[in-house]
Amino acid sequence: MISLQNLTCTFHAGTPNAKTVIRDLNLTVDAGEFVTIIGSNGAGKTTLFNLISGNLLPTSGRVFIDGEDVTAHPEYKRARTMGRIFQDPLAGTASNMTLEDNMMITCKKGFKWPVISLNRKMRAYFCEQLVNLKMGLESRMKENISTLSGGQRQALTLLMMVLSNPAIALLDEHTAALDPRNAAIVMDLTTRFITEHRLTTLMITHNMNHAIAYGSRLLMMDAGEIIIDVSGADKARLTVPKLLEMFSTVRRKAFENDEVLLAAG
Ligand SMILES: Nc1ncnc2c1ncn2[C@@H]1O[C@H](COP(=O)(O)OP(=O)(O)O)[C@@H](O)[C@H]1O
Ligand SMILES: [Mg+2]
Repeated sequence: MISLQNLTCTFHAGTPNAKTVIRDLNLTVDAGEFVTIIGSNGAGKTTLFNLISGNLLPTSGRVFIDGEDVTAHPEYKRARTMGRIFQDPLAGTASNMTLEDNMMITCKKGFKWPVISLNRKMRAYFCEQLVNLKMGLESRMKENISTLSGGQRQALTLLMMVLSNPAIALLDEHTAALDPRNAAIVMDLTTRFITEHRLTTLMITHNMNHAIAYGSRLLMMDAGEIIIDVSGADKARLTVPKLLEMFSTVRRKAFENDEVLLAAG
């Protein structure tokens, strides 16, 4: 589904400030895989998503989606196959619009209907979808998004992503800004949607326990490279100490990142 070949991304190439953030990276993700990605700050995780989504062009290397070379395709062209969710709950929805208008815009993207304006059938469909979130949002469809909590917004962003009917989900620390209770609710919803819609998923998290507990495959990134790639039974047996030990073995130094280690505690 996703194939990255010799991908390199250098910012300010050819200047004294040149900085290689993704380094000759190769990765193949099969359809339906759920990959968790962990790594210290600045490891290049978000940049990797920018390269996959077409938000950034690689300095060299190629990006294939479903067998097609999309390296030169702009972001809007890839957006039809991809949904992306960010850490900031404000990023996924339009604050000054109602829930139903936000949902309508999303449906346009997924071409579920040739959307002209909201009609009764669509409202009923949205209502039914919101009931599934179990947050009481079905009675608030005419309220502005800005009245929702961070957790509700992230849940709605997830629902809207699914309604847009993507094949690939890119989740960038999408629960990091939420309190533990809401983070758990949004993670439950995430796994449910991924399973129901058979999404090929890449999920960046700074929570080692989440990276281990969720998904079918775990990648650890460091300094623009994938240094650990575990799946199947090996992943099932993984623990936080084991992961830290693997990092030390590869890098010959201790893993240092307060945020990640605190979240693992
Ligand atoms: N547009 C940019 N221009 C210059 N440097 C950037 C840009 N985007 C990211 N970087 C740098 O690239 C490195 C990797 O960033 P990022 O991919 O956001 O890391 P992560 O998501 O793993 O924390 C960081 O050092 C960051 O400062
Ligand atoms: Mg990041």
